[in-house]
Amino acid sequence: MTTRILTGITTTGTPHLGNYAGAIRPAILASQQPGADSFYFLADYHALIKCDDPLRIQRSRLEIAATWLAGGLDPNKVTFYRQSDIPEIPELTWLLTCVAAKGLLNRAHAYKASVDKNLETGEDPDAGVSMGLYSYPVLMAADILMFNAHKVPVGRDQIQHVEMARDIGQRFNHLFGQGKEFFVMPEALIEESVATLPGLDGRKMSKSYDNTIPLFTSAKDMKDAISRIVTDSRAPGEAKDPDNAHLFTLYQAFASVDQAGEFREELLQGLGWGEAKQRLFQLLDGQLAEKREHYHQLIARPADLEDILLAGAAKARKIATPFLEQLRESVGLRSFRSSVQASAEGKKKAVKSARFVSFRDEDGSFRFRLLAADGEQLLLSKRFADGKSAGAVSKQLQQGGDADVRVEGLGFSLWLADEQVAEGPQAVDEQSRDAAVQRLREALAPQAD
Ligand code: TRP
Repeated sequence: MTTRILTGITTTGTPHLGNYAGAIRPAILASQQPGADSFYFLADYHALIKCDDPLRIQRSRLEIAATWLAGGLDPNKVTFYRQSDIPEIPELTWLLTCVAAKGLLNRAHAYKASVDKNLETGEDPDAGVSMGLYSYPVLMAADILMFNAHKVPVGRDQIQHVEMARDIGQRFNHLFGQGKEFFVMPEALIEESVATLPGLDGRKMSKSYDNTIPLFTSAKDMKDAISRIVTDSRAPGEAKDPDNAHLFTLYQAFASVDQAGEFREELLQGLGWGEAKQRLFQLLDGQLAEKREHYHQLIARPADLEDILLAGAAKARKIATPFLEQLRESVGLRSFRSSVQASAEGKKKAVKSARFVSFRDEDGSFRFRLLAADGEQLLLSKRFADGKSAGAVSKQLQQGGDADVRVEGLGFSLWLADEQVAEGPQAVDEQSRDAAVQRLREALAPQAD
């Protein structure tokens, strides 16, 4: 059994070392496991919720795409796409919005945090809150449910959103599934073993703390950042305390067990901080230099990246398009055409109630009409001199006599034993003429019962 793993990356920034160790590297490794069917995407619709700077959105999408590919993600093995290239996602978002309880969304952390902040500062509770922010979890539920993901690797702050996706998906299943489960219930996957990297100042590495180490921008940028890692003031030669040095934590996240053991030993022996920073740089550069070069090659050829992402979107839509069609059907958004044809029950009724109506024309002749169930005139007979012969012909047709339909122009006529007995209405085009012939045939077809 394959496990479908899906996760999105909001495209508002440039990936840093913490993102790499905490999310990108483990996701790429997971995608290489046997039995993994990975869906990774750029959550650029989500980015619009937080950012109204088009240049930054565009730049970030490019940088994040290049980072994942340079990091070793194989787009032939995984499905790698931009959320905004899948029109089925906003469409599903709406179907889910219509079943999502407002009360559920009232409880979403991100929205609640904004409201609480407003209340604290005496503002209107909803000041600065867009509908995008409020509906954020529904869009995320659509991302996940669209592809029936089993596992969703996310940070702790996103667990609630995955739970909401379950809640909303379950509700949809219940309302429209008719015993069938459209959506798989996703589970958040929190990798306990994955490093949360400390930043330069020892707090969690995060853009909002301005304490990050750049990942692929340049070796110099990385070196400069490393030189700003905060350490204690012990001089070279003095024993250091590796367990209380976030420089050591950073080193450990990229080193083998042996390398880390050696480094620990050297610090205990009094390795100077300047020297230690140099070691950290060498370790990181050794692992990232080649990838960095690949990254810059990718960034330099944005058209190639575009092609890769569009191919990924096509792959994703092979699943999304037919699935969404089923979902649309389930809620009642169906083609009028297919609903007539699809329902055998309805067809039978229509046949049963197609009826012959005889009448006398103004000139005294006897005629009949064949009317469909909805009253549409399917046939008008020729003029008969007496009611008896008109009745005989309509009876013959009713009993499924060998009716011969001949198309002429935009009309058609009906023949029995080489004699024209009735004609159909003139249609506006060939398509509707053929449809009328089809309805006539159905009305005349001998009935099974
Ligand atoms: N909200 C996620 C974050 O900020 C990004 C995201 C969007 C996501 N859609 C998703 C993650 C679907 C997992 C699954 O981290």
